[in-house]
Amino acid sequence: MPVILTRRATHLREFMDDPHCDQKLLYNTYRQFASVNRLVSRWQTVYRRFIKPKLSPERTTTLLDIGFGGGDVPLLVDRLAKADDLKLSITGIETDPRALEYASRMAWPESITLKHASTTELVRQRRRYDLVISNHLLHHLDENELRQLTSEAQQLANRRIVFNDIHRGDLAWMAFTLTRPFYRNSFITADGLRSIRRSYTTGELKALLPEDWFVQPVFPYRLIAGYDVPNAES
Ligand SMILES: C[S@@+](CC[C@H](N)C(=O)[O-])C[C@H]1O[C@@H](n2cnc3c(N)ncnc32)[C@H](O)[C@@H]1O
Repeated sequence: MPVILTRRATHLREFMDDPHCDQKLLYNTYRQFASVNRLVSRWQTVYRRFIKPKLSPERTTTLLDIGFGGGDVPLLVDRLAKADDLKLSITGIETDPRALEYASRMAWPESITLKHASTTELVRQRRRYDLVISNHLLHHLDENELRQLTSEAQQLANRRIVFNDIHRGDLAWMAFTLTRPFYRNSFITADGLRSIRRSYTTGELKALLPEDWFVQPVFPYRLIAGYDVPNAES
């Protein structure tokens, strides 16, 4: 439990969320997300524990990534599934048109489709995906948005939801200050420190989510909030 960061700093906003922020700094932030996520987000572990058991070498599994940012998480999950000879088709969505514009300058494998869309629109279109994931999305949202997201994710998921985020901690915050010299000309360090202060502990998140969701800590300073659709094929 944090001793210094005892409460979520919900008043803090991340610089990248400002629609008028500097485009060069924003694009550098999207680019640098790849190395930050490699450093802290533990997606290889999350893939192995929560995603891989749901994939098949014969049948294509569909996966939705909500808020793909720079796109490195869908790219990594795609690469891990291909390395395991498992069939996966990924859709990434973003509500920020600047992320789409950034991503449109990159080459994407055929197994990944990126869209400018919200979960609300996908629910309205009655879309369904076997798996629904996100990275660093939960701490961005206020409590009403979080409730809406969990409800919409449940309407979109056929089998499992896996939301990966930061677990608030004093040491996590102190350690992240050390990234400053390595992430220049971007919002990475400033927004990362704000994100840590906005993030949840497992108990806080569990108290906000519906009862049938699970929240599991992942070492160090990560948490997984998830939901398994009852009676879905395993
Ligand atoms: C901190 S960024 C994380 C980006 C990426 N997932 C990563 O971990 O590097 C959160 C992203 O979620 C997007 N976002 C926020 N709410 C969203 C929503 N309801 N649907 C889709 N994207 C959303 C924001 O535009 C932002 O790019």
